[in-house]
Amino acid sequence: MRKKHNILFACSELTPWVKTGGLADVCGSLPQALHRAGNDVRVVIPGYESVLRQIDSPVFISQLELPLGNVALCQTRLRAHDVLLITHPSFSNRPGNPYMSDDDRAWADNPYRFALFSQAVTEIALDRAQLEWQPDIVHCNDWQTGLVPALLTLHKPRPATVFTVHNLAYQGNILHSAYTDLQLPAELFHANGLEFWGQASYIKGGLAYADRVNTVSAGYAAEIRQNKYGCGMDGLLRSRGDRVSGILNGIDMDDWNPQTDPHLPQNYSLQTLDRKSANKAALQKEMRLPQDPEVPVFGVISRLAEQKGIDLIINAISTLRTEQLQLVVLGSGDTELQTQLLALQQDLPDKVAVKIGFSEPFSRLIEAGADSFLMPSRYEPCGLNQMYSLRYGTPPVVTHVGGLADTVFDPDQGAEKANGFVIKNATSEYLAQGIQRVLTAFANKPLWHQLQHNGMTTDFSWDESAQKYETLYHCAINDIEANLTR
Ligand code: ADP
Ligand code: GLC
Repeated sequence: MRKKHNILFACSELTPWVKTGGLADVCGSLPQALHRAGNDVRVVIPGYESVLRQIDSPVFISQLELPLGNVALCQTRLRAHDVLLITHPSFSNRPGNPYMSDDDRAWADNPYRFALFSQAVTEIALDRAQLEWQPDIVHCNDWQTGLVPALLTLHKPRPATVFTVHNLAYQGNILHSAYTDLQLPAELFHANGLEFWGQASYIKGGLAYADRVNTVSAGYAAEIRQNKYGCGMDGLLRSRGDRVSGILNGIDMDDWNPQTDPHLPQNYSLQTLDRKSANKAALQKEMRLPQDPEVPVFGVISRLAEQKGIDLIINAISTLRTEQLQLVVLGSGDTELQTQLLALQQDLPDKVAVKIGFSEPFSRLIEAGADSFLMPSRYEPCGLNQMYSLRYGTPPVVTHVGGLADTVFDPDQGAEKANGFVIKNATSEYLAQGIQRVLTAFANKPLWHQLQHNGMTTDFSWDESAQKYETLYHCAINDIEANLTR
């Protein structure tokens, strides 16, 4: 049997304690799967105020004196594994969203906060935090942890590093003067290091320095090597050759299970699918839409961002205003998109209902109560919502990009595996056609049931992907061992 690993898993969000998107769910479920597979996993996150409020008396481990300030390292447990918390006033005295104020503006000191966090992770990785525990793998996620692989290269010996890209568009780029003000290592600032068009890029720390880089679907791994999706990093990613790969996200199949989900007014399974309609009635009632079981309800749960194609949904529904359909949207983010959605609701009050905000319970009612789910993303590294929809018997309409193309299959791709609808391009015209295809298919009960069946019987668990991460860790460790002996 292959040797199991000591894994330090660094991230900025963690379900169930702090979530703005899919990153939190992945960080809440992949480490559990790695633990189940026999690895010793410790997750490290910032000790945000909202997190500290939810946990009982974390154990103080040590005070870390870092170049950017002193932090306290504390420890708690989440289900089966330990969670390490980096506490510092810039995290623990800040209410709300980890990255942004209520008016959707990034906190001005984010570069400082996540450099500090990365310095703390680096200390733990080097076993200098009085944990008496040495990871052999440090697994970092997105720009907030991008400096860690870079900082670790300044030490020998060091653990191997893996960097996972959940979204290449969020890069953590700062002015060179800000980088200098933070007194971050000057020797890392060069064209093959953190430098990016004159700025310093935190995500580039992960992309350039990690022993292995991966992203969250094979589709997105191929796309980000191209100019169109590469966000300026495609050349670097191509240059890293087979050190860059794709591993599809899994989902927590127990947490996202319509048979047991405690947030649903009515639980159901494939065998009791007729009970799903009670959730639809509850959803229509809550959103003050006509309670008609025959009208197809489309659901949307989303960060309101350019990426997600919310503008395409608004345009497509406007052009389909005479069709028999309803749309329920739950979203938060861009204020302009919020305004446009609320205007659409006002324009079509019997058809469109919008809730602005972030609500886990309500998101689950949408997954269960909607008939179909809209996700016309312009790009999508993996996407979890389409998988949750498939699991809840709510066939999605998606664009042919990234992880959406890897998980959703159109009837045109073969009836045996069809589970939803795939539109060719992210335009409102294609989306409107896709919605019309749903309306036709919804009336064809055997076809609709086949789509639901195919989605609900797919195994989206982490088992296979966790094994792929173990292989990736093994490769990363081999890489540095080979370097040391060279
Ligand atoms: P992304 O991470 O790009 O936002 P994903 O599909 O991977 O997209 O994951 C989004 C996650 O965040 C899902 O679990 C989704 O249900 C959740 N989510 C997004 N917006 C909201 C919201 N307004 N309220 C509740 N959950 C939300
Ligand atoms: C990002 C991506 C999303 C992915 C999630 C988890 O937020 O936008 O596609 O599912 O991370 O990996």
